[in-house]
Amino acid sequence: MNILQKKSLYDNKIAFIGAGNMASCILGGLVKQGFPANNIYVSAPDQPQLDALEKKYQVRTSADNAACAGDADILVLAVKPQILSKVCLRLSEHLSPGTLVISVAAGIDCESISGWLNDHQAIVRCMPNTPALVQEGASGLFATDAVSETQRQNAAAIMASVGKVCWIEDEQLMHPITALSGSGPAYFFLFIESMIETAVKQGLDPIMARTLAIQTALGAATLAGQSDVDVAELRRRVTSPNGTTEQAIATFEAKQLRGTVEAAMEACSKRSQELALEAKAVTAPK
Ligand SMILES: NC(=O)c1ccc[n+]([C@@H]2O[C@H](COP(=O)([O-])OP(=O)(O)OC[C@H]3O[C@@H](n4cnc5c(N)ncnc54)[C@H](OP(=O)(O)O)[C@@H]3O)[C@@H](O)[C@H]2O)c1
Repeated sequence: MNILQKKSLYDNKIAFIGAGNMASCILGGLVKQGFPANNIYVSAPDQPQLDALEKKYQVRTSADNAACAGDADILVLAVKPQILSKVCLRLSEHLSPGTLVISVAAGIDCESISGWLNDHQAIVRCMPNTPALVQEGASGLFATDAVSETQRQNAAAIMASVGKVCWIEDEQLMHPITALSGSGPAYFFLFIESMIETAVKQGLDPIMARTLAIQTALGAATLAGQSDVDVAELRRRVTSPNGTTEQAIATFEAKQLRGTVEAAMEACSKRSQELALEAKAVTAPK
């Protein structure tokens, strides 16, 4: 067991590159759970953004990515995918081989990140989603072979501070994960949006329609999460023969809701594969 493996997560220095939505919600989740704020370092170009994080969470900040990443046990890459190659190439000389790199950038695979980071090996790739902003996220995680068991546990603990985590052992499954949980919140927003529009057309006050639609989605998800029967059975239980719900469900089925969902998720997964290929075209200079 090496020195890093003997450390508990709280003894690690965690450096975040990027101080936007993802970085702030993950580090906020860590601090809320008791992770020592003085072991968290954040860097980004925007000083007011850094000042706000420092004030809110008492984390350490810097405008210099390399200074922030230097001697970090865990480095979280939380910048937009389009600038990840540039950020990594500039960090590559400053990373120690024992550092665990966690990337939350959508669509960029471990091989690309490793190439940009001077062949760095210990990488966890993560696909989070926006409900992480309210600690209700769902993240898919993939680790390269070089990631130790302790590093896997640390990566899972970091992402668990903003929601649920699931490991995948085949990186290609990151595409269906993107189509399910990564982009999934937008599907539910669209569904809620449609329900609100229809309820208003049927005469309900817009504020009341919004309240009832959102609470119904929240209640249904909470019930499904806490129930010991599957969602299809829960649906059957609220669908009485010849009742009102049966009419709605029959309409969804007749209008091919399942086929529409399948086509949408396939299109999403395909786009995720295309983005990964585009990212691969950007390689580290020899
Ligand atoms: N938001 C989500 O729900 C979500 C879901 C899944 C995955 N992700 C992934 O999470 C990553 C971050 O997304 P986000 O929503 O947090 O984006 P964001 O809010 O735009 O944050 C990006 C951060 O990176 C900073 N930055 C820009 N250039 C930089 C540089 N050269 N060095 C260091 N920092 C730099 C930005 O600073 P400025 O603001 O000054 O440019 C900002 O603080 C993305 O790769 C995205 O694919 C996000």
